[in-house]
Amino acid sequence: MQMSASEELEQMAVRFANEAIQFDRQGSKSNAISRYERTVEILLKLCALYPEAPQNKLYMQQIENCKQRIRLLKEQNGRFEESDHTPRQPARLEQLVLTEKPNVKWNEIADLRDAKKAIEESIVFPVKRPDLFPLGWPRGILFFGPPGCGKTLLAAAIATEIYAVFYSVDAASIMSKWLGESEKNVAELFSSARQAAEVGKPVIIFIDEVDSLVGIRGDEVGGEVRTRNQFLKEMDNVLDKKRQTHVYVIGATNKPWALDEPFIRRFQKRIYVPLPTAESRQELYEIYAKNLKLASDVDRTLLVEKTEGYSGSDFRDIFQGAQTKVVREFFEGNHSKTQGQARAIAMDDFKDVLRKRKPSVSPQMLTLYDKWFETYKAL
Ligand SMILES: Nc1ncnc2c1ncn2[C@@H]1O[C@H](COP(=O)(O)OP(=O)(O)OP(=O)(O)O)[C@@H](O)[C@H]1O
Ligand SMILES: [Mg+2]
Repeated sequence: MQMSASEELEQMAVRFANEAIQFDRQGSKSNAISRYERTVEILLKLCALYPEAPQNKLYMQQIENCKQRIRLLKEQNGRFEESDHTPRQPARLEQLVLTEKPNVKWNEIADLRDAKKAIEESIVFPVKRPDLFPLGWPRGILFFGPPGCGKTLLAAAIATEIYAVFYSVDAASIMSKWLGESEKNVAELFSSARQAAEVGKPVIIFIDEVDSLVGIRGDEVGGEVRTRNQFLKEMDNVLDKKRQTHVYVIGATNKPWALDEPFIRRFQKRIYVPLPTAESRQELYEIYAKNLKLASDVDRTLLVEKTEGYSGSDFRDIFQGAQTKVVREFFEGNHSKTQGQARAIAMDDFKDVLRKRKPSVSPQMLTLYDKWFETYKAL
């Protein structure tokens, strides 16, 4: 997707803000101040350049947040350094719009066309032409499937490729880090997303390991029940057809059976992210071979055949293993080599690695996914 000047500026602001937050956390005040100042500068420029833009309200809010933080940091700088080594949470900035964007592109993901297509249909089209969706559009999407097959990767690519405000949340950490307050975090997350969406931009909330929000049923502790209910309530808000705002919730899990029916129902699209097929493994091969020196005897077809049953991350590990092998050889006997090159990776290296490494997903596990898919599929 082509980026406009305003989008580029906005990305720049996001980058500076992220840097500012990083420095702020590390207690590096002057660096943090200079980055916050740059953020303000760019956002002000944006507002001046596009005075009618609906986002401006949001930018003004960010500017205010940054300014507040700058004031505080400057005050502290003037004062005698007390117990100020403990980094503090920089304003609420972070929880608002400025989440870090990973940098993964669609074409670095092998296959997963169903998932990519579903994203397109459910997010890109309704944002462009809401009028073509008189019955509303799906706003909850669940990716499920065996570990290491690209669910998290996919979310990273969505953040890069789809022009939207992106919140990425790891459910497991919500539950453990702020236990007791996790339902408040859920509420805050959604309310901030709604606010961001009100100014006209699509907002995607990505919740990784979403099964950990549900808790273990029959054995739930108070905090978990509250968090779960808060989440269901927030999802209902998002799904409300009368609302025209574009808030989307994407969940990912490798334990779909841990989700109960109220949860499942709210993810109107449920998409299986399966083990790579032979064709996907060919694509994986291309992706990973691109950056490596391979000998001419490396046989793609054979390698694709021999990796039946391996996941995407297994596949990456196999390539990594083969690379490590030639590097190890290169350093053998002389650990201080600064010149020369390792030899190319040969077919035997792959065979060797494959002998020592079994697929990380068992066939029994796979039947569980298939069964779940049969029961709950919703493409
Ligand atoms: N389709 C794919 N294309 C390219 N690389 C892939 C693909 N699937 C997996 N990988 C590789 O495997 C790694 C792990 O994938 P990812 O984290 O997306 O798995 P996941 O499905 O989220 O697993 P989990 O259920 O354990 O969270 C990726 O960072 C990438 O290197
Ligand atoms: Mg994952």
